[in-house]
Amino acid sequence: MTVSLYDRLGGYDALAVFSTKVVGQAQADSLLERFWANRGEDRIARELQLLIDYLVRETGGQMYYTGRDMALAHAGMEITEADWTRFIEIVTNVAGELGVGATEGGEVMDFLNSLKDDIVTA
Ligand code: HEM
Repeated sequence: MTVSLYDRLGGYDALAVFSTKVVGQAQADSLLERFWANRGEDRIARELQLLIDYLVRETGGQMYYTGRDMALAHAGMEITEADWTRFIEIVTNVAGELGVGATEGGEVMDFLNSLKDDIVTA
């Protein structure tokens, strides 16, 4: 039987820790902080939970994602290639810090790259 990427990454808690670190570092990053400027804490908490739900669902876990699709969620933000590169650097660093293996890391990157055209619009 094939073990899902979700299970191989460590399930819900691992994805929650991963998402919390990535979003926290993106918000604190000098290039990316502008996307979260003047947002209330509760809105940021809600977005973080949506990210966790989305990643759980997409990697094969049991979650009903209630957010918008990636194109709609990021439309009008004018996320650039440079923003994307920085975001991926953060993802790579966090994955390294959490000890994500090469195989799983590669699968995560393939998945994220498949979303790039919907997210990078500037
Ligand atoms: C593959 C990478 C990414 C994934 C999987 C992702 C995922 C998500 C998800 C699930 C949401 C919530 C959607 C909703 O509210 O219905 C969201 C919102 C958001 N994302 Fe991303 N995102 C990615 C990349 C980025 C990048 C590169 C940036 C900026 C540098 C960014 C900035 C935001 C912001 C600011 C919101 C809040 C939107 C709003 O509520 O107005 N995201 N993202």
